[in-house]
Amino acid sequence: MIVLGIDTSCDDTSAAIVKDGHEAISNIVHSQIELHHPYGGVVPELASREHLKNIIPVVKEALLSANTSLDKIDAIAVTIGPGLIGSLLVGLYYAKAISYTRGIKFIGINHLEGHILSIFLEKEAPSFPFIALTISGGHTSLYKVLDFGEYMLLGHTLDDAAGEAFDKVAKILGLGYPGGIEIEKLSKRGNPNKIKFPRPYLSKESLDFSFSGLKTAVSLFVKKWKRDKILRNEISLSDIAAAFQESVIDVIIEKIRRSLNIVDTKSVMVAGGVACNNRLRERLKRELTEIKLYFPRPEFCTDNGAMIAVAGYHKFIKGESSDLYTDARSRFPIAEI
Ligand code: KG4
Ligand code: ZN
Repeated sequence: MIVLGIDTSCDDTSAAIVKDGHEAISNIVHSQIELHHPYGGVVPELASREHLKNIIPVVKEALLSANTSLDKIDAIAVTIGPGLIGSLLVGLYYAKAISYTRGIKFIGINHLEGHILSIFLEKEAPSFPFIALTISGGHTSLYKVLDFGEYMLLGHTLDDAAGEAFDKVAKILGLGYPGGIEIEKLSKRGNPNKIKFPRPYLSKESLDFSFSGLKTAVSLFVKKWKRDKILRNEISLSDIAAAFQESVIDVIIEKIRRSLNIVDTKSVMVAGGVACNNRLRERLKRELTEIKLYFPRPEFCTDNGAMIAVAGYHKFIKGESSDLYTDARSRFPIAEI
């Protein structure tokens, strides 16, 4: 079965052709980083206008590089939420138009389900049940994954997402956007042990996350650091970046450990933009030796159409599809706690 997957949930316009729910024949992503760079974050109105310009060329390129055409597509899977409503509507209405005019069925997909199932694009995927941690610019959630379409939310962020914290701290440090990549680069030259920022573990057994206090702690420290010449001689900008990154990684490792206490599994998969972070990958592999870790390759960690096609495939084979009344949803939980 050949599925065209489309994702326009935030600032990337993406389309992919995926065969039988696991083989990405093409995966095209048009990034808007340059456009939003001057603002230090995504400007929703600019993002939706850019999606409008790019959706047709991106889908054409996905078809072309898979050496196929719309007549050979069995179904379309498109993200309907959560995300920026203007951005989501571009992908959804494009998918509806193709579905209606070509008679191809389509299905609306939850973006987070796409991130969880992105690991099935890799040769080696976990068996059920497994723990999934999705860490991106908009979301930080831990799930127990029982089967395709069966998810139990174990914990989520109470305020900022992990990627959002990276982006905001990058802004405080005067770095570019997206902040995660910039902080990772700078941290390589820094000593993470020169400053001890808070580790927001919350209550003893909590599987929730909270990054806004950590961000405030960095902000207060940077204010002091800018005023104090002696402190600036002792501690560099890269030390601050490294200390912040280490704090986020410590929290992530602790939350995974806690989730392993309540889920009977030895498989953990980590996805979403922050999962591209090499320091995080290294430390997880070094410190969680008792389990098997799964990471999608970086192009499937950040937003992409291929993961949406995977999620769509598993619904289509169960006979599910959407109708033309399907709407986009800016908030769209896949599972309650
Ligand atoms: O999954 P994604 O592409 O989009 C969302 O659904 O949000 O994630 C983007 C987020 C941004 O906040 C970005 O700063 C973060 O992922 N990110 C990273 C790295 N690469 C991207 N964070 C930490 N380290 C990285 N190497
Ligand atoms: Zn995402």
